[in-house]
Amino acid sequence: MKAPLNMTSPSPAAKPVHAAQTLFPIVDNCLQVGGIPLTRLAQRVGSTPFYAYDRGLVTQRVRELRAALPAQLELHYSIKANPMPALVQHLAGLVDGLDVASGGELKVALDTGMAPERISFAGPGKSEAELAQAVAAGACVHAESEREIRLLAQLGERLGIAPRLVLRINPDFELKGSGMRMGGGAKQFGIDAEDAPRLLALAGTLGLEVLGFHIFSGSQSLKAAAIVEAQAQTFELALRLAEASPSPVRMLNIGGGFGIPYFPGEARLELAPIGDALSAALPRMQAALPQAAFSIELGRYLVGEAGIYVARVIDRKVSRGQVFLVTDGGLHHHLAASGNFGQVIRKNYPVAIGNRMEATQREAVSVVGPLCTPLDLLAERMDLPAAEVGDLVVVFQSGAYGLSASPGGFLSHPGASEVLV
Ligand SMILES: Cc1ncc(COP(=O)(O)O)c(C=O)c1O
Repeated sequence: MKAPLNMTSPSPAAKPVHAAQTLFPIVDNCLQVGGIPLTRLAQRVGSTPFYAYDRGLVTQRVRELRAALPAQLELHYSIKANPMPALVQHLAGLVDGLDVASGGELKVALDTGMAPERISFAGPGKSEAELAQAVAAGACVHAESEREIRLLAQLGERLGIAPRLVLRINPDFELKGSGMRMGGGAKQFGIDAEDAPRLLALAGTLGLEVLGFHIFSGSQSLKAAAIVEAQAQTFELALRLAEASPSPVRMLNIGGGFGIPYFPGEARLELAPIGDALSAALPRMQAALPQAAFSIELGRYLVGEAGIYVARVIDRKVSRGQVFLVTDGGLHHHLAASGNFGQVIRKNYPVAIGNRMEATQREAVSVVGPLCTPLDLLAERMDLPAAEVGDLVVVFQSGAYGLSASPGGFLSHPGASEVLV
């Protein structure tokens, strides 16, 4: 027998909607992705759970960004945010470069047809085989240690190809208030800024030309002022590094860090102050480093809001007065939404019932997955339209660090598919 619905009274006023939901239209109570009703898309995909990425939203995001930032600033996509080949292919036609962090991502990037010199390979612990692949491809290797510099020199000789070498720098500052701090202090990423002059000299003695610098100070920031400040510090550091460089700087990657709002109360990042500050700073930088191409690298900002994760309700249980919607999807496909991908205090991602978008009868529910662990939680005590078995739970803000950032093998459940719509 079906458990009784444990509903709160129908809410007369519409609930406040998370900014993410406004990106996807609603027609006849149903969410639309790429112009297709979600229920129809689920039939097309053939099984749940799945991720759906809206290519129109990705295109629109790149357009908005280009309009807000100075034209001379190159825009790169960091594949780690979402390496789905069709999505990377779509982005390859919109951005100026692709950033990869493994031999696997390098293959995805090269398969798009992006010019190899517009592909950069950063990340600690690159294997000799990966470095050899990158040199053979003609991609830019962002060296993160003395070992990598020495290996590149050996590989260059062995392969008879001059490696395209950029130094990834661990800056002496960090992007304040960022979700993930990846610069400042002791880090496994990059070469400490103060050690750069020594390694620049070493590269020279090994016969390598250093093309420039990559300075990444953090990720997932929603504060324009913090990003502006970090970029100003990045430019100052780059000028100091340039003084120690035996050859002219040809490339300066100033990192990224543009965040998207995940949780209630978070506001969208304002692009205008960042664009204004960059427009003011770049002419001075171009005068100081006349041969340099300047780039930023963004992952989640380009794709995060364009993606949803969709799981089907397979059971509805009431435990001691609390309603649980048990779905066929969970943390094994979407670790981040479960709160276990770097969150200190668990908060709910924006979640909806995709085929009941306008329902007024609502209830407080927890949405869980099929894994036998309390960590498998997609929404905790959330106010949602009253749902039934067969309904489609949607997790917004899922286009980045979703499937590829999840422990797919955990508990041996089926995987999720991905579609670009
Ligand atoms: C070097 C580097 N670049 C880019 C990114 C992408 O960050 P995001 O997806 O927040 O833009 C990361 C994230 O860890 C990174 O380490």
